[in-house]
Amino acid sequence: MIGAEKIWWFGGEYTKEDLRRMDPVFLRALFRERIHHTIEVEIFPILLGRKKLSPGFGLQPQLILDIWKERGFSDDAPDFEWGKKYLALAEKLRAGEKIEIDESLPAPFTNQEMAVVHKLIWERRSLRDWVSGKKVPDDMIERILEAGRAAPCGCNLDIVRFIVIRDPEEAKMVWSDIPTPMEQCVLIVVCYDKRIYEIVGHDRLVPHNQLLDCAAAVDHMCLMAHALGLGAVWLSKTDKTAKTFKEKYGLPDYIEPVLHLAIGWAATGSIKSLRMPLADMMITRGKPDF
Ligand SMILES: Cc1cc2nc3c(=O)[nH]c(=O)nc-3n(C[C@H](O)[C@H](O)[C@H](O)COP(=O)(O)O)c2cc1C
Repeated sequence: MIGAEKIWWFGGEYTKEDLRRMDPVFLRALFRERIHHTIEVEIFPILLGRKKLSPGFGLQPQLILDIWKERGFSDDAPDFEWGKKYLALAEKLRAGEKIEIDESLPAPFTNQEMAVVHKLIWERRSLRDWVSGKKVPDDMIERILEAGRAAPCGCNLDIVRFIVIRDPEEAKMVWSDIPTPMEQCVLIVVCYDKRIYEIVGHDRLVPHNQLLDCAAAVDHMCLMAHALGLGAVWLSKTDKTAKTFKEKYGLPDYIEPVLHLAIGWAATGSIKSLRMPLADMMITRGKPDF
């Protein structure tokens, strides 16, 4: 089987020449997306014998990787390492070899580990008053951002982008319904790159996933902030705030700020908000649900 000549999906196609000219940010996103949609989610029905292996299985992302390397870009980053593992499996399948996905399965946590998970999930709370002048160390901010990076993201497109604001003057650009002066905390503005969904037409198919990606990242970051002993709160933004922020911060049009996460050393606690009982949150269908 010779390589693919182009890549295609429900809404369009890119030729080799298109890929050779494409902005590397898009090309890389397309690589992850093609690995995800043409190998990662396709491989299970094939292994279960429910779907036939197509002769070109895995060749689309292979073409992207070949062009990526031909253009002199490094393929060492973790997203490429992940993609290359799937490319290797696809190659074996095309050669008629048997494959095994030799990766670990989830194992139940020990009681001790479960106690930590429980503490994290149930003790996290929104905090809205921070100690003035007590700096949140950079390594803590980095750990929080890393937690955001680990969150799930639609189609593996990695569209979420972060801006860290420590400067009190810049912090004032962020509207908030919290009366606490924003200069007492670090702000992480969670944004997404609008261009990436456009390259695969996902802006027409699942545009809301862009917001969901940001929300997933923020949730992970809040949990990490809590584990580090910091107080954090989501801050909604309005379209007007986003516009002002974009203008004052000089953000390109394609970067869309979605929400802000305020983080600091909590000065005052909060009464942990409790949820409605699970039974009141269930939509039942006239029979026990589980
Ligand atoms: C999408 C979203 C937007 C939020 N926006 C704000 C906000 O603008 N200001 C604020 O004080 N809290 C905000 N919060 C925090 C919620 O008020 C808080 O999560 C909720 O009251 C439950 O309390 P808990 O986080 O302490 O469990 C937001 C939370 C979410 C998920």
